[in-house]
Amino acid sequence: MKKIKAIVTGSTSGIGKEITSLLLKSGASVIGLARDHKKFEPDFDNYFPVAVDLSDLEKAERIIPKILQEHSNIDVLICNAGHGDFRTLENFSGKQIADFINLNLISHIILCRHIVSNMKTNGNGDIIVLGSEAALVGKKKASLYSAAKFGLRGFTQSLRDECGNNGVRVCLINPGLVRSPFFDSLNFKPGEAKNNAIEPRDVAKIVLEVIKTRKGTIVDEINLSPASKSIIFN
Ligand SMILES: NC(=O)c1ccc[n+]([C@@H]2O[C@H](COP(=O)([O-])OP(=O)(O)OC[C@H]3O[C@@H](n4cnc5c(N)ncnc54)[C@H](OP(=O)(O)O)[C@@H]3O)[C@@H](O)[C@H]2O)c1
Repeated sequence: MKKIKAIVTGSTSGIGKEITSLLLKSGASVIGLARDHKKFEPDFDNYFPVAVDLSDLEKAERIIPKILQEHSNIDVLICNAGHGDFRTLENFSGKQIADFINLNLISHIILCRHIVSNMKTNGNGDIIVLGSEAALVGKKKASLYSAAKFGLRGFTQSLRDECGNNGVRVCLINPGLVRSPFFDSLNFKPGEAKNNAIEPRDVAKIVLEVIKTRKGTIVDEINLSPASKSIIFN
């Protein structure tokens, strides 16, 4: 693969960590965004960790212009950072709702807003957004998560339509359960059997295929499911 420059949000864990690892092994430069980089310190000269809390929208506003000053011509933005919180709606305060939507929806829109003009000017770019099966159907206790992920789905459809002519491709990936630390703070997780969850590496390989796809073709959306759906409550 051509030596690309990629920004990966949520590069320190789960899906983002695997995407980062595969990109680095392919020779790409990766600027990794997360709050705590002690969790993942890949030994590559072409890895550039940036500590940022993306739920702080003022920081989200400033981060892409700052990165572009140091690393021009970003080829790929992977919007992946996020977390889950699954409760009935009345259990969330207004502030918790705002914080959740800020991280899981608005920060991604802000990052795309800052990168897309640069990509359009270059006539080249891939934006890949991690949605979810919760972007396709709403279920109980997932009202906030689905609000954010449905929002991302509408956002990516429009952005794709807006910038396809300028060489910028926008792809949404909607996985079902992925076996990752995402579940560490939740009261459920995928069943123990191998086919009860997608592996982060599976998603990462698909992301690389999307990037490698011939430029004239856009991969709009990809839905992924574990072969056998089963969850365990703690
Ligand atoms: N696991 C699943 O079943 C599943 C299914 C469908 C979709 N997804 C989506 O896939 C994406 C990645 O999930 P994952 O399973 O890989 O989860 P994960 O293992 O918990 O990783 C989440 C990543 O996001 C970063 N992050 C979280 N809050 C952040 C913040 N405020 N600012 C900056 N970075 C932040 C974390 O780093 P720090 O904690 O260091 O900040 C971490 O690198 C999410 O968007 C999730 O909604 C997951």
